[in-house]
Amino acid sequence: MEDKYTETINTWNKVAQLYEDKFMDLELYNDSYQKFCELLINQNASILELGCGPGNITKQLLRLKPQLDILATDVSENMIAHAKKNNPTITTQQLDARKLASLQCTFNGIICGFIIPYLAKEDFEKLCKDFNTKLHKNGILYLSYVEGNYEHSGFQTSSSGDRAYFYYYDSKFIAQTLVHNNFKILNQLEVHYEKNDNTLETHSILIAQKG
Ligand SMILES: C[S@@+](CC[C@H](N)C(=O)[O-])C[C@H]1O[C@@H](n2cnc3c(N)ncnc32)[C@H](O)[C@@H]1O
Repeated sequence: MEDKYTETINTWNKVAQLYEDKFMDLELYNDSYQKFCELLINQNASILELGCGPGNITKQLLRLKPQLDILATDVSENMIAHAKKNNPTITTQQLDARKLASLQCTFNGIICGFIIPYLAKEDFEKLCKDFNTKLHKNGILYLSYVEGNYEHSGFQTSSSGDRAYFYYYDSKFIAQTLVHNNFKILNQLEVHYEKNDNTLETHSILIAQKG
Protein backbone atom coordinates (compact mmCIF):
# COMPACT_ATOMS: atom_id res chain seq x y z
CA MET A 1 0.00 0.00 0.00
CA GLU A 2 2.77 2.47 0.96
CA ASP A 3 4.43 1.91 -2.47
CA LYS A 4 1.24 3.09 -4.20
CA TYR A 5 1.25 6.26 -2.11
CA THR A 6 4.95 6.90 -2.80
CA GLU A 7 4.48 6.57 -6.58
CA THR A 8 1.35 8.75 -6.51
CA ILE A 9 3.03 11.49 -4.47
CA ASN A 10 6.12 11.48 -6.74
CA THR A 11 3.83 11.84 -9.75
CA TRP A 12 2.05 14.86 -8.26
CA ASN A 13 5.40 16.47 -7.59
CA LYS A 14 6.39 15.99 -11.24
CA VAL A 15 3.15 17.22 -12.82
CA ALA A 16 2.60 20.38 -10.74
CA GLN A 17 3.17 22.75 -13.69
CA LEU A 18 1.05 20.64 -16.07
CA TYR A 19 -1.79 20.60 -13.54
CA GLU A 20 -1.57 24.36 -13.08
CA ASP A 21 -1.65 24.93 -16.86
CA LYS A 22 -4.81 22.85 -17.20
CA PHE A 23 -6.82 23.61 -14.04
CA MET A 24 -5.74 26.97 -12.59
CA ASP A 25 -8.53 28.95 -14.22
CA LEU A 26 -11.20 26.28 -14.68
CA GLU A 27 -14.63 27.73 -13.83
CA LEU A 28 -16.55 24.44 -13.75
CA TYR A 29 -16.72 24.19 -9.94
CA ASN A 30 -17.20 27.89 -9.13
CA ASP A 31 -20.83 27.46 -8.00
CA SER A 32 -19.73 24.97 -5.36
CA TYR A 33 -17.03 27.33 -4.02
CA GLN A 34 -19.68 30.05 -3.84
CA LYS A 35 -21.96 27.72 -1.84
CA PHE A 36 -19.11 26.87 0.57
CA CYS A 37 -18.34 30.58 1.08
CA GLU A 38 -22.01 31.44 1.69
CA LEU A 39 -22.10 28.92 4.53
CA LEU A 40 -19.14 30.49 6.33
CA ILE A 41 -20.50 32.96 8.82
CA ASN A 42 -17.40 35.11 9.32
CA GLN A 43 -15.73 37.15 6.58
CA ASN A 44 -12.35 36.21 8.07
CA ALA A 45 -13.14 32.54 8.77
CA SER A 46 -10.14 30.25 9.24
CA ILE A 47 -9.90 27.71 6.41
CA LEU A 48 -7.72 24.65 6.01
CA GLU A 49 -7.22 23.39 2.49
CA LEU A 50 -5.93 19.83 2.05
CA GLY A 51 -4.36 18.83 -1.28
CA CYS A 52 -4.37 22.45 -2.45
CA GLY A 53 -2.52 21.71 -5.71
CA PRO A 54 -1.35 24.93 -7.40
CA GLY A 55 -3.77 27.01 -5.29
CA ASN A 56 -6.61 27.07 -7.83
CA ILE A 57 -9.39 26.68 -5.23
CA THR A 58 -7.73 29.09 -2.81
CA LYS A 59 -7.61 31.70 -5.57
CA GLN A 60 -11.36 31.36 -6.15
CA LEU A 61 -12.15 31.46 -2.41
CA LEU A 62 -10.13 34.66 -2.00
CA ARG A 63 -11.92 36.19 -4.98
CA LEU A 64 -15.24 35.51 -3.21
CA LYS A 65 -14.12 36.36 0.35
CA PRO A 66 -10.79 38.24 0.33
CA GLN A 67 -10.48 38.26 4.13
CA LEU A 68 -10.49 34.49 4.61
CA ASP A 69 -7.56 33.25 6.67
CA ILE A 70 -6.35 30.27 4.60
CA LEU A 71 -3.78 27.61 5.43
CA ALA A 72 -3.17 25.74 2.16
CA THR A 73 -1.48 22.34 2.44
CA ASP A 74 -0.41 19.59 0.08
CA VAL A 75 1.82 16.54 0.31
CA SER A 76 3.78 17.72 -2.77
CA GLU A 77 6.36 20.42 -2.15
CA ASN A 78 6.18 21.53 -5.79
CA MET A 79 2.41 22.03 -5.54
CA ILE A 80 2.96 24.09 -2.38
CA ALA A 81 5.47 26.29 -4.22
CA HIS A 82 2.93 26.88 -7.02
CA ALA A 83 0.13 27.61 -4.52
CA LYS A 84 2.27 30.25 -2.79
CA LYS A 85 3.34 31.82 -6.11
CA ASN A 86 -0.32 32.04 -7.19
CA ASN A 87 -1.59 33.33 -3.82
CA PRO A 88 1.27 35.24 -2.17
CA THR A 89 -0.76 36.30 0.89
CA ILE A 90 -1.71 32.83 2.13
CA THR A 91 0.10 30.55 4.57
CA THR A 92 1.27 27.24 3.12
CA GLN A 93 2.55 24.04 4.67
CA GLN A 94 3.60 20.68 3.30
CA LEU A 95 1.24 18.10 4.83
CA ASP A 96 0.15 14.58 4.03
CA ALA A 97 -3.62 14.48 4.67
CA ARG A 98 -3.07 11.15 6.44
CA LYS A 99 -1.23 13.17 9.13
CA LEU A 100 -3.96 15.78 9.61
CA ALA A 101 -4.15 14.95 13.33
CA SER A 102 -0.60 16.35 13.73
CA LEU A 103 -1.82 19.92 13.02
CA GLN A 104 -2.27 21.92 16.21
CA CYS A 105 -4.98 24.38 15.06
CA THR A 106 -8.74 24.10 14.50
CA PHE A 107 -10.72 25.78 11.72
CA ASN A 108 -14.10 27.20 10.67
CA GLY A 109 -13.90 25.39 7.35
CA ILE A 110 -11.99 22.58 5.63
CA ILE A 111 -11.84 22.18 1.87
CA CYS A 112 -10.61 19.03 0.12
CA GLY A 113 -10.82 19.31 -3.66
CA PHE A 114 -10.18 15.95 -5.37
CA ILE A 115 -7.78 14.58 -2.81
CA ILE A 116 -9.97 11.67 -1.67
CA PRO A 117 -9.33 9.95 -5.05
CA TYR A 118 -5.76 9.46 -3.81
CA LEU A 119 -6.70 7.98 -0.43
CA ALA A 120 -7.58 4.36 0.30
CA LYS A 121 -10.83 3.66 2.16
CA GLU A 122 -9.23 3.18 5.59
CA ASP A 123 -7.36 6.50 5.25
CA PHE A 124 -10.54 8.24 4.13
CA GLU A 125 -12.36 6.87 7.20
CA LYS A 126 -9.57 8.10 9.49
CA LEU A 127 -9.63 11.48 7.73
CA CYS A 128 -13.35 11.86 8.55
CA LYS A 129 -12.56 11.36 12.25
CA ASP A 130 -9.82 13.99 11.98
CA PHE A 131 -12.21 16.43 10.23
CA ASN A 132 -14.37 16.19 13.30
CA THR A 133 -11.57 17.14 15.70
CA LYS A 134 -10.09 19.86 13.44
CA LEU A 135 -13.34 21.75 12.77
CA HIS A 136 -15.04 24.10 15.22
CA LYS A 137 -18.65 23.32 16.14
CA ASN A 138 -20.86 24.09 13.09
CA GLY A 139 -17.73 24.18 10.90
CA ILE A 140 -18.18 23.58 7.17
CA LEU A 141 -16.56 20.77 5.17
CA TYR A 142 -16.21 20.65 1.36
CA LEU A 143 -15.27 17.39 -0.37
CA SER A 144 -15.04 16.55 -4.05
CA TYR A 145 -14.38 13.16 -5.60
CA VAL A 146 -15.10 11.05 -8.68
CA GLU A 147 -18.21 8.90 -8.47
CA GLY A 148 -17.64 5.19 -9.13
CA ASN A 149 -17.17 1.72 -7.78
CA TYR A 150 -14.28 1.45 -5.30
CA GLU A 151 -13.49 -2.00 -6.71
CA HIS A 152 -12.62 -0.36 -10.04
CA SER A 153 -9.83 1.73 -8.47
CA GLY A 154 -6.34 1.30 -9.89
CA PHE A 155 -3.31 2.98 -11.42
CA GLN A 156 -3.99 5.70 -13.99
CA THR A 157 -1.30 7.09 -16.29
CA SER A 158 -1.07 10.84 -16.94
CA SER A 159 -0.24 12.50 -20.27
CA SER A 160 3.38 12.73 -19.05
CA GLY A 161 3.49 8.93 -18.67
CA ASP A 162 3.56 9.04 -14.84
CA ARG A 163 1.21 6.92 -12.76
CA ALA A 164 -1.03 7.65 -9.78
CA TYR A 165 -3.28 5.22 -7.91
CA PHE A 166 -6.85 6.48 -8.29
CA TYR A 167 -9.73 5.55 -5.97
CA TYR A 168 -13.38 5.85 -7.01
CA TYR A 169 -15.95 6.47 -4.30
CA ASP A 170 -19.66 5.98 -4.00
CA SER A 171 -21.57 9.00 -2.62
CA LYS A 172 -23.66 6.82 -0.35
CA PHE A 173 -20.53 5.52 1.41
CA ILE A 174 -19.03 9.01 1.70
CA ALA A 175 -22.25 10.45 3.15
CA GLN A 176 -22.68 7.54 5.60
CA THR A 177 -19.09 7.89 6.85
CA LEU A 178 -19.57 11.62 7.41
CA VAL A 179 -22.88 11.15 9.24
CA HIS A 180 -21.21 8.48 11.41
CA ASN A 181 -18.62 11.15 12.34
CA ASN A 182 -21.15 13.75 13.46
CA PHE A 183 -21.66 15.62 10.17
CA LYS A 184 -24.93 16.78 8.61
CA ILE A 185 -24.98 16.82 4.79
CA LEU A 186 -26.07 20.27 3.56
CA ASN A 187 -25.51 20.05 -0.20
CA GLN A 188 -24.72 17.50 -2.86
CA LEU A 189 -23.79 18.64 -6.35
CA GLU A 190 -22.79 16.76 -9.47
CA VAL A 191 -20.70 18.15 -12.31
CA HIS A 192 -20.21 16.31 -15.60
CA TYR A 193 -16.59 16.46 -16.66
CA GLU A 194 -15.40 15.52 -20.16
CA LYS A 195 -12.05 13.74 -20.10
CA ASN A 196 -9.32 13.96 -22.79
CA ASP A 197 -10.70 10.78 -24.44
CA ASN A 198 -14.18 12.44 -24.64
CA THR A 199 -15.71 10.09 -22.02
CA LEU A 200 -17.79 11.68 -19.26
CA GLU A 201 -17.06 11.40 -15.54
CA THR A 202 -19.39 12.38 -12.70
CA HIS A 203 -17.63 14.68 -10.27
CA SER A 204 -19.44 14.80 -6.94
CA ILE A 205 -19.23 17.63 -4.45
CA LEU A 206 -20.52 17.27 -0.94
CA ILE A 207 -20.82 20.10 1.59
CA ALA A 208 -21.43 19.12 5.21
CA GLN A 209 -21.60 20.75 8.63
CA LYS A 210 -20.14 19.47 11.87
CA GLY A 211 -22.86 18.92 14.48
C1 LIG B 1 -6.38 16.40 -8.39
S1 LIG B 1 -5.27 17.43 -7.48
C2 LIG B 1 -6.43 18.56 -6.74
C3 LIG B 1 -5.91 19.97 -6.63
C4 LIG B 1 -6.98 20.97 -6.20
N1 LIG B 1 -7.40 20.71 -4.83
C5 LIG B 1 -8.17 20.90 -7.12
O1 LIG B 1 -9.27 20.52 -6.67
O2 LIG B 1 -8.04 21.22 -8.31
C6 LIG B 1 -4.87 16.40 -6.12
C7 LIG B 1 -3.91 17.04 -5.14
O3 LIG B 1 -3.86 16.22 -3.97
C8 LIG B 1 -2.52 16.14 -3.54
N2 LIG B 1 -2.40 14.91 -2.75
C9 LIG B 1 -2.40 13.63 -3.18
N3 LIG B 1 -2.26 12.79 -2.13
C10 LIG B 1 -2.19 13.57 -1.02
C11 LIG B 1 -2.05 13.30 0.37
N4 LIG B 1 -1.94 12.06 0.84
N5 LIG B 1 -2.02 14.35 1.24
C12 LIG B 1 -2.11 15.63 0.78
N6 LIG B 1 -2.22 15.94 -0.52
C13 LIG B 1 -2.27 14.92 -1.42
C14 LIG B 1 -1.70 16.15 -4.82
O4 LIG B 1 -0.36 16.52 -4.58
C15 LIG B 1 -2.48 17.16 -5.67
O5 LIG B 1 -2.00 18.45 -5.48
